[in-house]
Amino acid sequence: MTLMTFPHRDGVTEVHCGVPFSALLSSFDRRRTVVVTDTTVGRLYERQFDGFPVVTIGEGETGKTLATVEDICRSFLEREVDRSWTALAVGGGIVCDIAAFAAALWMRGIHCVLVPTTLLAMVDAAIGGKNGVNFDRYKNLVGTVRQPEKIIVDAGFLKTLPRREMLCGFAEIIKHGLIADAAYFAEVERTIGEELSPETLIARSIEIKMAVVSQDETERGIRRILNFGHTIGHAIEKLDPSRRHGEAIAVGMALAAELSWRYNYLSAGEVSRIHALLLRAGLPVKTSLAVGDLMRSIRLDKKRRGEAMAFILLEQIGKAKVVEIPLRELEDALAVVCERR
Ligand SMILES: NC(=O)c1ccc[n+]([C@@H]2O[C@H](COP(=O)([O-])OP(=O)(O)OC[C@H]3O[C@@H](n4cnc5c(N)ncnc54)[C@H](O)[C@@H]3O)[C@@H](O)[C@H]2O)c1
Ligand SMILES: [Zn+2]
Repeated sequence: MTLMTFPHRDGVTEVHCGVPFSALLSSFDRRRTVVVTDTTVGRLYERQFDGFPVVTIGEGETGKTLATVEDICRSFLEREVDRSWTALAVGGGIVCDIAAFAAALWMRGIHCVLVPTTLLAMVDAAIGGKNGVNFDRYKNLVGTVRQPEKIIVDAGFLKTLPRREMLCGFAEIIKHGLIADAAYFAEVERTIGEELSPETLIARSIEIKMAVVSQDETERGIRRILNFGHTIGHAIEKLDPSRRHGEAIAVGMALAAELSWRYNYLSAGEVSRIHALLLRAGLPVKTSLAVGDLMRSIRLDKKRRGEAMAFILLEQIGKAKVVEIPLRELEDALAVVCERR
């Protein structure tokens, strides 16, 4: 088991990694802890929550709304949850984002502990303190930055996670290596295989994300490098809802690697290494979308400044850099990852 501690502006977050959640549950007071989960996780793990009040929310991005936060608050009211209580979020990124947001709002903030159950939530969504919900057509537009008191990471949950969801987590793991740690990238290359056993990778991924976040909790500077692959990734997700987040950002990372080569940062060999690892992980490096459709979507992005856009490139594997890219060059490079013009 690894216990990591991360100091932040309001205190310290403890991350317990590699310990069974069931072993830590007895440390929570059943009369002052409310579990927030979703239908699938609730069904699979209900026996673990025995004796705890449970609030179950629906699944999917369409339910990641203020209305669901209201439902949670109503359940808190019925159960007379006060500031001495802890909200224990057990689920994927959606549960963690919504429950942490409700916990931040209820009575101006109750205790919050996150128990991520998807690989993506373990290495990304539960880490860093951002929470919130979607609003109108926009993702995560309403929310706060508030670090949870504890994060309990039990890879045992991954036994029931569908393979496609696992791959989404691997996309973020690969991202962490690319932007911050060449040795970690090489370790992912070495260990990725048929079995997809990420236990040894999770703790380091969390450390990388927390190291970036602790320098810039509110995303004024360096935290932006965590968006590597995400500008194009978000555009792909919007235009092709059949793509999961990790699949879309895999294509985004392939494009960013291509641009990094065009800017003479990465060698052709490094770009091939990146493509090869994404493919070996079972992730795509191309999209069936057309260049024109993606460019139209990118023109609506709030990071665009006239005919250029701030883009995260790699100076080398393990080191990211924000570069202003003319849209014309982006369009040229897109032709490499798009199967249609
Ligand atoms: N706050 C942040 O910094 C941050 C960062 C990245 C992503 N996110 C958010 O995270 C969300 C995506 O999270 P996600 O990919 O975990 O998706 P998710 O929460 O929708 O979970 C995916 C599916 O897996 C199921 N599931 C969860 N755990 C399971 C388990 N152990 N076994 C079987 N099934 C299980 C869920 O019920 C759901 O159907 C997005 O809304 C995104 O905006 C937030
Ligand atoms: Zn992501």
